[in-house]
Formats: sequence, C-alpha cells, structure tokens
Amino acid sequence: MTSTDKVDFTDVRWGSVGWTNLCTLYLRAYESRSPKPILGDTAAAKAVDRIDYDWGRMRRTMRPGSNQYMVTMRAKQLDDWCISFLRRNPRSVVLHLGCGMDTRAFRLHAPETVRWFDVDQPNVIALRRKLYDDRDGYRMLGSSVTDDAWLDEVPTDCPTLAVAEGLVMYLTEPEVRSLLRRLTDRFSSGELLFDTVSPVGPRLSKVLTKGITKWGIRDARAIERWNPRLRFLERSSAAALYERIPSASVRLLWRLVYATPLRNYDVLNRFAF
Ligand SMILES: C[S@@+](CC[C@H](N)C(=O)[O-])C[C@H]1O[C@@H](n2cnc3c(N)ncnc32)[C@H](O)[C@@H]1O
Repeated sequence: MTSTDKVDFTDVRWGSVGWTNLCTLYLRAYESRSPKPILGDTAAAKAVDRIDYDWGRMRRTMRPGSNQYMVTMRAKQLDDWCISFLRRNPRSVVLHLGCGMDTRAFRLHAPETVRWFDVDQPNVIALRRKLYDDRDGYRMLGSSVTDDAWLDEVPTDCPTLAVAEGLVMYLTEPEVRSLLRRLTDRFSSGELLFDTVSPVGPRLSKVLTKGITKWGIRDARAIERWNPRLRFLERSSAAALYERIPSASVRLLWRLVYATPLRNYDVLNRFAF
C-alpha cells in the first residue's frame, strides 16, 4: 500500500461507529481547507481524498459549514495540551484511546523519540489499517480499552500521555474508574487528557440514541476523589476557542451558545499523575 492508493470504505454502514469516525474525519478535513483553519488537519484532508465513500451524502448530512468547529475546537485544545506535554517530555509514550480515524499521531509531528499507540476496537483498527501501516514509533492496537491485555504491549519506562477524545462518555462509570486505575497503576508518571459530557448527555441519549452515551459528570474534578494518584490541572469548555472562528455569523452562533450553560456540555479535562 502506498499513501496515494485509493481505499474502499463503501461498506461502512451509515449510522455505524465506523461512520461516526468518518463524520469527524470529514469535518476536520473540511476545516483544513478553510482559509484560516483553527485545527488545520491536512492529514485528515489527505485521508478523505484517498477514501472511496459517499462524501456528497456526508456533506449534506453533516452541514460542515457550521458543524466543523464542534470537532475542530475540541481537537485543537487537546492538541495544544499534547504538544505542551511532548515539549516537556520528548522521550515519552502516547496512548491515543478511542482514536477512531483521527490523524493526531501524524498532525502533531511528535519527536522521533516518542512511541505512539493508537487504540480502538478491533473493527475500527481494521478500518484504520486500510489507510495506515504500523512503523517505527507508531503502532495501532485493536482492543477495547476496558480489556487488560493491550496494556502489556505498551512500554512503561518513560512518562506517558493518555488522550481520549469522544471516548469516556461511551463507557460506564465503573469502566471509566477501572480504566483510570489501570493507567495510573501501570505508568509511573504522565498526563491524562479527556473530554467529559454533562450528566444530561446519558439522560438524553436514553430517549434519543438508544442509550449509546452512558456516562456523564458535572465536574470532573470529582475524579481526584476516585483516584488519589490523579491531580486535576485544568479544564476548558470544548467550545472555548470560538473567537477564532473566521465566519462572523458562525462565530456569533457559538458566542451565543457559549453564553449559556451549554458551554459546559462537553468539557476538556487535564490531569497529572
Ligand atoms: C465518537 S468516536 C471518536 C473517535 C475519535 N477520537 C475522534 O474524535 O474522531 C468514539 C470512538 O471510541 C471508540 N470506543 C468506544 N468504546 C471503546 C472501547 N471500549 N474501547 C476502545 N475504543 C472504544 C469507538 O470505537 C470510536 O472509534
């Protein structure tokens, strides 16, 4: 496989997990083509160019003109935290949990001394493997993060950054507690970056999306009490970067959202251990 070969994703079922990963990939790619992108994910644009899929239908469904920023503001804040960690810890391990089709491993241009692991369910990693290969410093692991065995593949000899975007809300609270415990038991130091949704998320999901969103928390600082090894560092609304949106009308829309409690619906959290 070369990085220009076309790959067939036409069998990814509309509404499936694979499809949701293509939605966020598409929105990041779309935003990278804007004159003043916030995220500028050109690796996503390259991936979309290679993937054979009904992108016309995707565009009509996703309405990227206004929806692209939902994804790219959140990703940009997490990228900035990752970059800061990698600057301070050029020899480190990164665990990108629930990576989906995200290109964070490529767009951050981590130092060669970083060992990066993209982790997601086996069927999602099988899709990723149509596009990317493992290589020195980069591996994909197909496993549920709730399983134990995948952690044995990861070195423990240096600081560890675990980043999970759009993942923990799909786990139950006991699964989240156990995942955090296993990470802090296994790795001696590092940071944990993840977004959490408000408890309204799972309540609405019961009615609207068959309970797919399972866990929410009002204030993730409470997690310090679950796990004394975790030290809360900071948090930020996923929409905090709205002032950077180039379109005045879309920026106004986000400013209005930000002025309401909705700004606390999806919150990005940074912990040290
Ligand atoms: C909404 S997508 C987000 C994907 C990616 N982080 C992004 O922002 O584009 C959620 C991802 O979490 C993955 N996921 C959900 N539960 C998981 C689990 N128990 N173990 C590993 N991955 C899981 C799904 O397979 C999916 O790829």
